[in-house]
Amino acid sequence: LLLLLVVLGLELTLVCVHAEGKTSLIGKNFNPEKIQGKWRTILVASDKREKIEEHGSMRIFVEYIHLFRNSSLAFKFHTIVNKECTELYLVRDKTEEAGVYDVKYDGYNRFTILDTDYDDYIIIHLRNIKNGETFQTMKLYGRKPKLSSNIKKKFGVLCKKQGIVIENILDLTEADHCLQAEVGRMTCASRWVISSENEEWLSTNIVP
Ligand SMILES: *[C@@H]1O[C@H](CO)[C@@H](O)[C@H](O)[C@H]1NC(C)=O
Repeated sequence: LLLLLVVLGLELTLVCVHAEGKTSLIGKNFNPEKIQGKWRTILVASDKREKIEEHGSMRIFVEYIHLFRNSSLAFKFHTIVNKECTELYLVRDKTEEAGVYDVKYDGYNRFTILDTDYDDYIIIHLRNIKNGETFQTMKLYGRKPKLSSNIKKKFGVLCKKQGIVIENILDLTEADHCLQAEVGRMTCASRWVISSENEEWLSTNIVP
């Protein structure tokens, strides 16, 4: 009987390990503080391809991630709605599991951070449920506008594991990320530098 229990216990452990493979790879070591800051969408994948194609609700371009004190994460995105660049702000509330969040967007989403090294890339898995239907989306974000092919390959392998075929992975490196708002701010900043050389303008317009 003891032996049987030991065998059963082992099997249970194996089942647990297997089940965990589907969720976060980083598990309890995940440090949400370190994923804050600027990111850029590099690759997106989905088993419902139209969701990531033009006009798809999951074709959204990240700008930054912010961590609230209550451990919720805020994501700022840019997307194209009716041919216009629009900002999108989503708050993801944490669950009891490390690296797993809930968010309402185009239905309900369970959001899992599958992998990250914090400095270069982050890989995210989304399970969407809406009106009894479900689909998955995966995203690869980079700190810089381009990522090495090694990391892209890693993303491909993880997609395959989740059952997303390689034909449904889109490279958005060269796509319009609709970051006009960002460009706008940069223009303002450079204008500011130019005008600050003009002290007369400064004293009349800025100094009270
Ligand atoms: C956490 O705080 C943010 C910002 O104040 C808020 O939007 C969000 O709903 C909060 N989440 C929870 C679970 O209270």
